[in-house]
Amino acid sequence: SERVTVPHIRAMREKGRRVVCVTAYDALFGALADAAGVDLVLVGDSVGNVLLGYPTTVPVTLEDMLHHTRATRAGVKRALLVSDLPFGSFQVSVSDAVGSAVALMKAGAEAVKLEGDYTEQIEACVRAGIPVMGHLGMTPQSVNLFGGHRVQGKGSKGESIIDTAKRLEDAGAFSMVLELIPAELAERITEAVSIPTIGIGAGAGCSGQIQVLYDVLGLSAGSFRHARAFVHGSDCLLDGLRSYTEVVRDGSFPTSENSF
Ligand code: KIV
Ligand code: NA
Repeated sequence: SERVTVPHIRAMREKGRRVVCVTAYDALFGALADAAGVDLVLVGDSVGNVLLGYPTTVPVTLEDMLHHTRATRAGVKRALLVSDLPFGSFQVSVSDAVGSAVALMKAGAEAVKLEGDYTEQIEACVRAGIPVMGHLGMTPQSVNLFGGHRVQGKGSKGESIIDTAKRLEDAGAFSMVLELIPAELAERITEAVSIPTIGIGAGAGCSGQIQVLYDVLGLSAGSFRHARAFVHGSDCLLDGLRSYTEVVRDGSFPTSENSF
């Protein structure tokens, strides 16, 4: 069916259709997410903790993101492909931001996402023809400031997130992720802006949801309150690998049917 574009994502909010988003980091899983019919695939910098074994997203480089964007591009045919600007690739200057975003677009992204209050960077990317997704609340690249992956915007601190959300919209963001914030605050932000809000740990009142693919598939080490495993991936895969180990050991694989 028809490819999903940035105007499609924006229009989904007006039509009251929830935007379904998931991360992917390579061609294999990008193609699976695409086949499932999700609207948007994010090459998240969560590739750092999820796949590369880093403790946080802080060490993820632009080179890492380009590598995984190229791979995911090869698998995603229909969903909108968005890539994260990693820590350090956009904060220092507007020209860094545009340069990094251009590189992600050349690697196959159709939009970029950046964390935090960087309206000048967003404006400059949009001016250059690059759609930008915002990301507010618990922004993982600032984990050292927060002292952990903690819920943000509790109580009176919520007002400043609402204010920032409005400014991201004014700067030209086409949507924004709201991560680990109280559900009521996420609803207020969603009312305060006209672009789709995409929640993760932000309740049911957002315009759409995003999850880390490996959480959805039950392939993550931990379990999180904001997530749900819709298939027990690790158990399933471990069963398969144990069977393989067994049959090689006992000599029942390969058989003549596997031989030439
Ligand atoms: O990197 C990521 O996976 C993300 C989503 C969780 C929003 O930024
Ligand atoms: Na991210």
